[in-house]
Amino acid sequence: MAALNVRSVLVTGSNRGIGLELIRQLAGRSKSTEFIFAICRDPAGPQAQELKNLAAKYQGIDILPLDICKPSSIQAAVAKVTEKLKGSGLNLLINNAGVVKPVTSLELETPEGLLEAYKTNVLGAMMMSQAFLPLLKKASRESVQKGMSCSKAAIVNLSSECGSITNLLAWEVAHIPNYRCSKAALNMLTKCQSLGYAKDEILCVPLHPGWLQTDMGNAVVGDLWKIHSQILSNLLDTLHLPLDTQILFLAEMTAQFTTAAEFPDDALEMLWRSH
Ligand SMILES: NC(=O)c1ccc[n+]([C@@H]2O[C@H](COP(=O)([O-])OP(=O)(O)OC[C@H]3O[C@@H](n4cnc5c(N)ncnc54)[C@H](OP(=O)(O)O)[C@@H]3O)[C@@H](O)[C@H]2O)c1
Repeated sequence: MAALNVRSVLVTGSNRGIGLELIRQLAGRSKSTEFIFAICRDPAGPQAQELKNLAAKYQGIDILPLDICKPSSIQAAVAKVTEKLKGSGLNLLINNAGVVKPVTSLELETPEGLLEAYKTNVLGAMMMSQAFLPLLKKASRESVQKGMSCSKAAIVNLSSECGSITNLLAWEVAHIPNYRCSKAALNMLTKCQSLGYAKDEILCVPLHPGWLQTDMGNAVVGDLWKIHSQILSNLLDTLHLPLDTQILFLAEMTAQFTTAAEFPDDALEMLWRSH
């Protein structure tokens, strides 16, 4: 299978968890990726050390300070990315940063918890997408590729099956209404983006990465599976495929994973079609 062939990519929440692993894999696997913008709230803090080690090891990783809830911070990052890209567009925006308030029961949920989750998981992703839209459009216009793909111009929103109305992953483990409602809203935001940006040929997809042992994964339930490099590597492979093939690819992966004992059923990658 051909590798993801993306010239420039930006990942939010890249100092730990899934974001950090995405940066590691993007840097390690693809020679065609010239610009990797690693977004981090506090690059000077201890939580950013691993990311800084990666940036020292691989050329092309730029660590940018950015709080996705702060418009002024987003604008400053847009200016830096624009300058760095020297007139070319941004191919792939991965809205990965997210929060959860680990509230186990519906009765314990608070308005503040819900607002906090919406602010980061929905408003943050929306503001980032709006701010970087001109660069994404530019990448789409510049591309000679036909149709839509992550190598051309795309917004990938890290969502969760917890926000699925029909599947409602792990209700019996934790209710977490703040998280579920915000991810359901993020799915709808992605649907709106996919319709709104179709004319610009910008692919917009929500992605469920599986339940992984990160700070967030552990906050909801303690003993989960480790971030599995293979899962994220396969996710990256998925991202360059045309939409129809993506579905086929996921079906194939499902078959693969159910035969591998180390993968729990709910760690299957799931990509909802937005078109
Ligand atoms: N882990 C799972 O099992 C799982 C399952 C389904 C979906 N997801 C989704 O995958 C994404 C990543 O999850 P994760 O497990 O890697 O979470 P994590 O380990 O808790 O990491 C969250 C990341 O988001 C960043 N972040 C939070 N608020 C931010 C803000 N306002 N501005 C900039 N960065 C911010 C954090 O930065 P700081 O270090 O500064 O706080 C951190 O880098 C999330 O959207 C999550 O909902 C995760």
